[in-house]
Amino acid sequence: MTTLLSLEGIKKTYWPASNQTITALGKIDLEVQDREFITIVGPSGCGKTTILKLISGVLKPTKGRILVEGIPLQNSHRQLLGMVFQQPALLPWRTVLDNVLLPCEVKGQDMHKARALAEELLGLVGLNNFINRNPRELSYGMQQRVSICRALISDPRILLMDEPFAALDAITRFEISRLLLEIWSVKKNTVLFVTHNIQEAVFLADRVVVMTPRPGRIASIVDVPLPRPRTEKHLYDPSFSSCAETIHQLLGLNAL
Ligand SMILES: Nc1ncnc2c1ncn2[C@@H]1O[C@H](COP(=O)(O)OP(=O)(O)OP(=O)(O)O)[C@@H](O)[C@H]1O
Ligand SMILES: [Mg+2]
Repeated sequence: MTTLLSLEGIKKTYWPASNQTITALGKIDLEVQDREFITIVGPSGCGKTTILKLISGVLKPTKGRILVEGIPLQNSHRQLLGMVFQQPALLPWRTVLDNVLLPCEVKGQDMHKARALAEELLGLVGLNNFINRNPRELSYGMQQRVSICRALISDPRILLMDEPFAALDAITRFEISRLLLEIWSVKKNTVLFVTHNIQEAVFLADRVVVMTPRPGRIASIVDVPLPRPRTEKHLYDPSFSSCAETIHQLLGLNAL
């Protein structure tokens, strides 16, 4: 295994007003292996989104450094990244297909190839019959699947996902989680996935990063020993419950 991403002694303080400081992140040290699926859980306000913003380069750490394959994070690393947020954020005047193709247009890629790949991805997430529709004709869950395809179209080495399924009902959420794992098993991106849902965190991850309340630090990293591919039956596996219980306890919640 090779380390793709290193967060070394990362601290982040915000200065929302001249007389006020908010220390969002205490001190974060984390090594993410190439092709690893990491989920991050923690109380609201503990700095999960801040971590993703630091990795994306949108924010700079107050202290510490971020390395990608041993090289300090720089603008050129942005092309390695794909991002999915809680809101699908699709452009309403473009069709589903054209929304997925947007990153390829921006990068000036071969649109013939890109179109074939976009259609393949949309097929994988069950949207083959919707490629020429407008986003507003799609349900919220379908729109989120489109935004996942848009993030995956440029085959990012690192996929940053910030509570992407938070607004979905439980059944759709589980279905999309499975789809994501199916795609990931083929593409093998390195994924950092923030969620408030402990079951989702365990189901998806190789390792779950559990954070403390603000200022966020890593309370513990829980290894998930479940084999892949993950299926519904793993939800009833004793090691699934044991991981979930450990995370509950680390978060100071009552055990299951
Ligand atoms: N731009 C900003 N200016 C000032 N403070 C900020 C800013 N962004 C975030 N914060 C503060 O930093 C802390 C961490 O915020 P962040 O959004 O990273 O938390 P989070 O773990 O993602 O929370 P949630 O689970 O609610 O999404 C919070 O206390 C928040 O108020
Ligand atoms: Mg957040």
